[in-house]
Amino acid sequence: MKIAVVTGASSGIGRAFVLQLDADEPFDEIWAIALEEDLLGELQKEVHARIRPFAMDFCNRENLTRYGEALKAVAPDVAVLVNASGFGIFKTFEKTSLDRLFGMVDVNARTMMGMTYLTLPYMRQGGRIYNMGSGSSFQPTPYALIYGATKAFALSFSRGLNVEFRNGRRGIRVMAVCPLWVKTNFFKMAVSDKTISYFSKWVEAADVVKKALKDMRRGKDVSILGFNMQMQVLGVKLLPAGLVMKIWCKQQKQG
Ligand SMILES: NC(=O)c1ccc[n+]([C@@H]2O[C@H](COP(=O)([O-])OP(=O)(O)OC[C@H]3O[C@@H](n4cnc5c(N)ncnc54)[C@H](OP(=O)(O)O)[C@@H]3O)[C@@H](O)[C@H]2O)c1
Repeated sequence: MKIAVVTGASSGIGRAFVLQLDADEPFDEIWAIALEEDLLGELQKEVHARIRPFAMDFCNRENLTRYGEALKAVAPDVAVLVNASGFGIFKTFEKTSLDRLFGMVDVNARTMMGMTYLTLPYMRQGGRIYNMGSGSSFQPTPYALIYGATKAFALSFSRGLNVEFRNGRRGIRVMAVCPLWVKTNFFKMAVSDKTISYFSKWVEAADVVKKALKDMRRGKDVSILGFNMQMQVLGVKLLPAGLVMKIWCKQQKQG
Protein backbone atom coordinates (compact mmCIF):
# COMPACT_ATOMS: atom_id res chain seq x y z
CA MET A 1 0.00 0.00 0.00
CA LYS A 2 1.53 3.30 -1.15
CA ILE A 3 1.02 6.13 1.31
CA ALA A 4 2.11 9.67 2.17
CA VAL A 5 2.47 10.73 5.81
CA VAL A 6 1.91 14.39 6.63
CA THR A 7 2.20 15.92 10.10
CA GLY A 8 0.60 19.31 10.68
CA ALA A 9 -1.95 18.23 8.07
CA SER A 10 -4.93 20.10 9.51
CA SER A 11 -3.96 23.58 8.41
CA GLY A 12 -1.54 25.91 6.66
CA ILE A 13 1.48 24.38 4.96
CA GLY A 14 0.83 20.76 6.00
CA ARG A 15 -2.70 20.93 4.62
CA ALA A 16 -1.40 22.45 1.37
CA PHE A 17 1.03 19.51 1.11
CA VAL A 18 -1.83 17.02 1.44
CA LEU A 19 -3.83 18.72 -1.32
CA GLN A 20 -0.93 19.10 -3.75
CA LEU A 21 0.58 15.66 -3.18
CA ASP A 22 -2.85 14.14 -3.79
CA ALA A 23 -3.30 16.18 -6.97
CA ASP A 24 0.18 15.21 -8.23
CA GLU A 25 0.19 11.43 -7.82
CA PRO A 26 -1.97 8.53 -6.63
CA PHE A 27 -1.72 7.35 -3.02
CA ASP A 28 -3.80 4.58 -1.49
CA GLU A 29 -3.84 6.49 1.78
CA ILE A 30 -2.60 9.74 3.21
CA TRP A 31 -1.87 9.52 6.90
CA ALA A 32 -2.83 12.96 8.16
CA ILE A 33 -1.57 13.86 11.61
CA ALA A 34 -2.39 16.92 13.74
CA LEU A 35 -3.05 17.93 17.30
CA GLU A 36 -6.85 17.85 16.88
CA GLU A 37 -8.77 15.38 14.70
CA ASP A 38 -11.75 17.61 13.68
CA LEU A 39 -10.14 19.37 10.70
CA LEU A 40 -8.45 16.19 9.46
CA GLY A 41 -11.86 14.61 8.70
CA GLU A 42 -12.66 17.60 6.48
CA LEU A 43 -9.69 16.79 4.26
CA GLN A 44 -11.40 13.66 2.94
CA LYS A 45 -13.89 15.82 1.00
CA GLU A 46 -11.02 17.40 -0.95
CA VAL A 47 -8.72 14.53 -1.89
CA HIS A 48 -8.87 11.29 -3.87
CA ALA A 49 -6.71 9.22 -1.51
CA ARG A 50 -8.23 7.71 1.62
CA ILE A 51 -7.40 9.92 4.61
CA ARG A 52 -6.32 8.09 7.74
CA PRO A 53 -6.51 10.71 10.50
CA PHE A 54 -4.36 10.61 13.63
CA ALA A 55 -4.80 13.04 16.53
CA MET A 56 -1.42 13.24 18.22
CA ASP A 57 0.06 15.79 20.56
CA PHE A 58 3.76 15.61 19.82
CA CYS A 59 4.55 17.29 23.14
CA ASN A 60 3.63 13.86 24.50
CA ARG A 61 6.35 11.39 23.57
CA GLU A 62 4.02 8.38 23.66
CA ASN A 63 2.47 9.52 20.39
CA LEU A 64 5.59 8.70 18.41
CA THR A 65 5.38 5.18 19.81
CA ARG A 66 1.75 5.04 18.63
CA TYR A 67 2.87 6.09 15.16
CA GLY A 68 5.56 3.39 15.14
CA GLU A 69 2.96 0.78 16.11
CA ALA A 70 0.60 1.91 13.31
CA LEU A 71 3.43 1.51 10.78
CA LYS A 72 4.24 -1.93 12.12
CA ALA A 73 0.60 -3.04 11.92
CA VAL A 74 0.09 -1.89 8.30
CA ALA A 75 3.64 -2.16 6.88
CA PRO A 76 2.95 0.42 4.15
CA ASP A 77 5.25 1.71 1.45
CA VAL A 78 5.78 5.31 2.55
CA ALA A 79 6.56 7.24 -0.62
CA VAL A 80 6.48 10.68 1.02
CA LEU A 81 6.93 11.98 4.55
CA VAL A 82 6.18 15.62 5.32
CA ASN A 83 7.19 16.92 8.75
CA ALA A 84 5.11 20.09 8.96
CA SER A 85 3.73 20.08 12.51
CA GLY A 86 5.14 22.92 14.50
CA PHE A 87 4.54 26.10 16.41
CA GLY A 88 6.43 29.20 17.47
CA ILE A 89 6.30 31.67 20.32
CA PHE A 90 7.63 35.17 19.74
CA LYS A 91 8.70 36.48 23.15
CA THR A 92 11.90 36.91 25.10
CA PHE A 93 13.45 33.64 26.27
CA GLU A 94 12.91 34.48 29.93
CA LYS A 95 9.25 35.42 29.49
CA THR A 96 8.32 32.18 27.71
CA SER A 97 7.27 29.33 29.98
CA LEU A 98 9.72 26.43 30.15
CA ASP A 99 6.85 24.11 29.23
CA ARG A 100 6.26 25.92 25.94
CA LEU A 101 10.00 26.08 25.22
CA PHE A 102 10.27 22.30 25.70
CA GLY A 103 7.10 21.94 23.58
CA MET A 104 8.70 23.79 20.67
CA VAL A 105 11.78 21.58 20.81
CA ASP A 106 9.56 18.48 21.08
CA VAL A 107 7.20 19.31 18.21
CA ASN A 108 9.53 21.15 15.82
CA ALA A 109 12.75 19.20 16.23
CA ARG A 110 12.48 15.97 18.24
CA THR A 111 9.31 14.86 16.40
CA MET A 112 10.91 15.59 13.01
CA MET A 113 13.83 13.37 13.92
CA GLY A 114 11.64 10.65 15.46
CA MET A 115 9.09 10.57 12.62
CA THR A 116 11.92 10.29 10.11
CA TYR A 117 13.70 7.54 12.04
CA LEU A 118 10.52 5.48 12.49
CA THR A 119 9.42 5.93 8.87
CA LEU A 120 12.71 5.08 7.14
CA PRO A 121 12.35 1.27 7.37
CA TYR A 122 9.13 1.67 5.36
CA MET A 123 10.67 3.87 2.65
CA ARG A 124 12.10 2.55 -0.59
CA GLN A 125 14.25 3.99 -3.36
CA GLY A 126 12.61 7.21 -4.56
CA GLY A 127 11.23 8.08 -1.10
CA ARG A 128 10.99 11.79 -0.34
CA ILE A 129 11.12 13.63 2.97
CA TYR A 130 10.11 17.28 3.34
CA ASN A 131 11.06 18.95 6.62
CA MET A 132 9.73 22.37 7.57
CA GLY A 133 12.53 24.80 8.27
CA SER A 134 12.08 28.56 7.99
CA GLY A 135 13.87 31.81 7.27
CA SER A 136 15.09 31.50 10.85
CA SER A 137 16.94 28.28 9.92
CA PHE A 138 19.82 30.39 8.64
CA GLN A 139 20.46 32.80 11.54
CA PRO A 140 19.93 33.18 15.28
CA THR A 141 16.60 34.95 15.92
CA PRO A 142 16.60 36.71 19.31
CA TYR A 143 13.00 37.14 20.57
CA ALA A 144 12.02 34.03 18.62
CA LEU A 145 15.07 32.28 19.93
CA ILE A 146 14.13 28.67 20.55
CA TYR A 147 11.81 28.64 17.54
CA GLY A 148 14.75 29.73 15.36
CA ALA A 149 17.04 27.18 17.00
CA THR A 150 14.59 24.35 16.20
CA LYS A 151 14.46 25.54 12.59
CA ALA A 152 18.28 25.60 12.40
CA PHE A 153 18.05 21.96 13.52
CA ALA A 154 15.60 21.22 10.69
CA LEU A 155 17.97 22.63 8.07
CA SER A 156 21.10 20.96 9.43
CA PHE A 157 19.33 17.62 9.95
CA SER A 158 17.79 17.59 6.46
CA ARG A 159 20.93 18.51 4.56
CA GLY A 160 23.15 16.12 6.52
CA LEU A 161 20.75 13.17 6.22
CA ASN A 162 20.37 13.83 2.51
CA VAL A 163 24.15 13.43 2.13
CA GLU A 164 24.19 10.20 4.20
CA PHE A 165 21.55 8.79 1.84
CA ARG A 166 23.36 9.97 -1.28
CA ASN A 167 26.68 8.46 -0.12
CA GLY A 168 24.95 5.24 0.92
CA ARG A 169 23.01 5.15 -2.38
CA ARG A 170 19.80 4.73 -0.38
CA GLY A 171 17.81 6.59 -3.07
CA ILE A 172 15.83 8.65 -0.56
CA ARG A 173 15.93 12.44 -0.77
CA VAL A 174 15.54 14.84 2.14
CA MET A 175 14.81 18.52 1.78
CA ALA A 176 14.36 21.44 4.18
CA VAL A 177 11.55 23.80 3.17
CA CYS A 178 12.49 27.29 4.36
CA PRO A 179 9.91 30.02 3.69
CA LEU A 180 9.83 33.40 5.37
CA TRP A 181 6.36 34.60 6.44
CA VAL A 182 3.43 32.42 5.36
CA LYS A 183 -0.23 33.39 5.93
CA THR A 184 -1.41 30.61 8.26
CA ASN A 185 -2.83 29.99 11.73
CA PHE A 186 0.76 29.84 12.98
CA PHE A 187 0.59 33.50 14.06
CA LYS A 188 -2.43 32.96 16.36
CA MET A 189 -0.10 31.09 18.70
CA ALA A 190 3.19 32.84 17.91
CA VAL A 191 2.18 36.45 18.31
CA SER A 192 0.65 37.66 21.57
CA ASP A 193 2.24 41.10 21.78
CA LYS A 194 4.53 43.40 19.80
CA THR A 195 7.81 41.56 20.51
CA ILE A 196 8.00 40.61 16.82
CA SER A 197 6.15 43.17 14.72
CA TYR A 198 7.94 43.42 11.36
CA PHE A 199 6.98 40.88 8.71
CA SER A 200 8.87 41.71 5.52
CA LYS A 201 6.79 39.86 2.91
CA TRP A 202 3.90 37.41 3.11
CA VAL A 203 3.53 34.36 0.89
CA GLU A 204 0.77 31.75 0.48
CA ALA A 205 1.11 28.19 1.81
CA ALA A 206 0.12 26.76 -1.58
CA ASP A 207 3.01 28.60 -3.27
CA VAL A 208 5.50 27.35 -0.67
CA VAL A 209 4.42 23.78 -1.35
CA LYS A 210 4.37 24.19 -5.14
CA LYS A 211 7.98 25.42 -5.01
CA ALA A 212 9.00 22.64 -2.60
CA LEU A 213 7.61 19.91 -4.88
CA LYS A 214 9.39 21.48 -7.86
CA ASP A 215 12.68 21.83 -5.95
CA MET A 216 12.51 18.19 -4.86
CA ARG A 217 12.12 17.13 -8.51
CA ARG A 218 15.22 19.19 -9.29
CA GLY A 219 17.21 17.38 -6.58
CA LYS A 220 17.63 20.36 -4.24
CA ASP A 221 18.16 19.90 -0.50
CA VAL A 222 16.71 23.29 0.48
CA SER A 223 13.64 25.03 -0.92
CA ILE A 224 13.56 28.82 -0.77
CA LEU A 225 10.65 30.75 -2.25
CA GLY A 226 11.10 34.16 -3.81
CA PHE A 227 13.83 36.66 -4.62
CA ASN A 228 13.55 38.44 -1.20
CA MET A 229 14.20 35.25 0.67
CA GLN A 230 17.07 34.25 -1.64
CA MET A 231 18.72 37.64 -1.05
CA GLN A 232 18.24 37.27 2.71
CA VAL A 233 19.90 33.85 2.74
CA LEU A 234 22.80 35.21 0.69
CA GLY A 235 23.16 38.22 3.03
CA VAL A 236 23.23 35.97 6.10
CA LYS A 237 26.00 33.89 4.48
CA LEU A 238 28.12 36.93 3.68
CA LEU A 239 27.66 39.13 6.77
CA PRO A 240 29.00 38.51 10.29
CA ALA A 241 26.43 36.89 12.62
CA GLY A 242 26.55 39.90 14.97
CA LEU A 243 25.53 42.26 12.19
CA VAL A 244 22.81 39.90 10.94
CA MET A 245 21.27 39.83 14.42
CA LYS A 246 21.61 43.61 14.75
CA ILE A 247 19.62 44.07 11.52
CA TRP A 248 16.96 41.60 12.70
CA CYS A 249 16.65 43.36 16.09
CA LYS A 250 16.44 46.77 14.41
CA GLN A 251 13.66 45.53 12.11
CA GLN A 252 11.82 44.24 15.18
CA LYS A 253 12.41 47.51 17.08
CA GLN A 254 14.36 45.67 19.77
CA GLY A 255 17.58 46.87 21.39
N1 LIG B 1 3.64 30.41 8.88
C1 LIG B 1 4.89 30.78 8.69
O1 LIG B 1 5.19 31.97 8.49
C2 LIG B 1 5.98 29.74 8.68
C3 LIG B 1 7.21 30.11 8.14
C4 LIG B 1 8.24 29.18 8.11
C5 LIG B 1 8.03 27.90 8.61
N2 LIG B 1 6.83 27.56 9.15
C6 LIG B 1 6.69 26.21 9.69
O2 LIG B 1 5.76 25.48 8.89
C7 LIG B 1 5.16 24.45 9.68
C8 LIG B 1 3.65 24.54 9.51
O3 LIG B 1 3.22 25.75 10.08
P1 LIG B 1 1.97 26.57 9.51
O4 LIG B 1 2.44 27.94 9.21
O5 LIG B 1 1.27 25.80 8.47
O6 LIG B 1 1.10 26.70 10.85
P2 LIG B 1 -0.34 26.15 11.25
O7 LIG B 1 -1.32 26.49 10.20
O8 LIG B 1 -0.54 26.68 12.63
O9 LIG B 1 -0.16 24.55 11.29
C9 LIG B 1 0.53 23.93 12.32
C10 LIG B 1 0.20 22.46 12.31
O10 LIG B 1 0.97 21.82 13.35
C11 LIG B 1 0.07 21.10 14.20
N3 LIG B 1 0.54 21.11 15.58
C12 LIG B 1 0.77 22.19 16.36
N4 LIG B 1 1.14 21.81 17.59
C13 LIG B 1 1.16 20.45 17.58
C14 LIG B 1 1.42 19.46 18.57
N5 LIG B 1 1.73 19.78 19.83
N6 LIG B 1 1.34 18.15 18.22
C15 LIG B 1 1.00 17.80 16.95
N7 LIG B 1 0.72 18.69 15.97
C16 LIG B 1 0.79 20.00 16.30
C17 LIG B 1 -1.27 21.80 14.07
O11 LIG B 1 -2.33 20.93 14.44
P3 LIG B 1 -3.77 21.53 14.94
O12 LIG B 1 -4.34 22.30 13.77
O13 LIG B 1 -4.57 20.34 15.29
O14 LIG B 1 -3.47 22.44 16.10
C18 LIG B 1 -1.27 22.18 12.61
O15 LIG B 1 -1.67 21.07 11.84
C19 LIG B 1 5.65 24.68 11.12
O16 LIG B 1 6.72 23.80 11.37
C20 LIG B 1 6.14 26.11 11.10
O17 LIG B 1 7.15 26.31 12.04
C21 LIG B 1 5.79 28.46 9.18
